[in-house]
Amino acid sequence: MTRKIIIDTDPGQDDAVAILLALASPELDVLGITAVAGNVPLPLTQKNARIVCELAGKPEVKVFAGCDAPLERPLVTAEYVHGKTGLDGPELPDPTMPLQEQHAVDFIIDTLRAEEPGTVTLCPLGPLTNIATAFQRAPDIVDRVAQIVLMGGAYFEVGNVTPAAEFNIYVDPQAADIVFKSGCDIVVMPLDVTHKALVTKPRNDAFRALGTKVGVAVAEMTDFFERFDREKYGSEGAPLHDPCVTAYLLRPELFSGRRVNVEVETQSELTMGMTVADWWGVTDRAPNALFIGDLDADGFFTLLTERLARL
Ligand code: BDR
Ligand code: CA
Repeated sequence: MTRKIIIDTDPGQDDAVAILLALASPELDVLGITAVAGNVPLPLTQKNARIVCELAGKPEVKVFAGCDAPLERPLVTAEYVHGKTGLDGPELPDPTMPLQEQHAVDFIIDTLRAEEPGTVTLCPLGPLTNIATAFQRAPDIVDRVAQIVLMGGAYFEVGNVTPAAEFNIYVDPQAADIVFKSGCDIVVMPLDVTHKALVTKPRNDAFRALGTKVGVAVAEMTDFFERFDREKYGSEGAPLHDPCVTAYLLRPELFSGRRVNVEVETQSELTMGMTVADWWGVTDRAPNALFIGDLDADGFFTLLTERLARL
């Protein structure tokens, strides 16, 4: 049986790989890709989403543009990680497939209302602005969501954009707060796990050795994207944050975590956007998310490389 998903994203090289993995996987039915402002501003994220669909040879996928700024705070972007276009690395042609006219938030609302309750999974790979806006505008859709599998937050790794906060949650903490309090079934891929999904040299070579347009582009994207983390953390390669979301949908047994309470800091400027995860169960706050901590990295890269080869 295929699983219906909506990918909400701010591409981003790692978002691109997450999208490619989904489009290569027959188990997943990508109902639409909704772009949000994040790594780069919205005009670039919606364009990049279309570039990636065309790279995958799937120009029929519907791409929608959503919110161009967080709910309450000014937009913070990450060109210092992803480059000026958000997708620096490979030379990819401008897309010719159309951008859908409907706003991404309306698409999310209409789709959740039209599909059988409990059949559509939301896959946020960027700031949670589109999802929170949809939940605020149409509270009736919240109970219809099958599951939310998102990349965001950190506990043991603490922050990447500030000492306390991970980028996706920091950019729109108010939106993240709405989502974490929604009551939906939530699976979180925090930095704690994504920093273990590293594109080492042999893994990058394996992408390139596919010899396909997709394989070479992914190798070039991860080459570019790795510079930043290599310098900052001294790590062996680029962390494939967002593809953890897609891989979890396909092979959840590759991942392990704990059901815990996760709350988002929305008040203190010092720790704004921090995901306070009760990993050790020291409060009586009810668990609201499965917080992933570890993965079988070799299994993850075997899956990813095998699937990319199909495109
Ligand atoms: C997250 O922020 C973005 O830079 C990446 O695409 C990923 O979604 C990691 O903190
Ligand atoms: Ca992202």
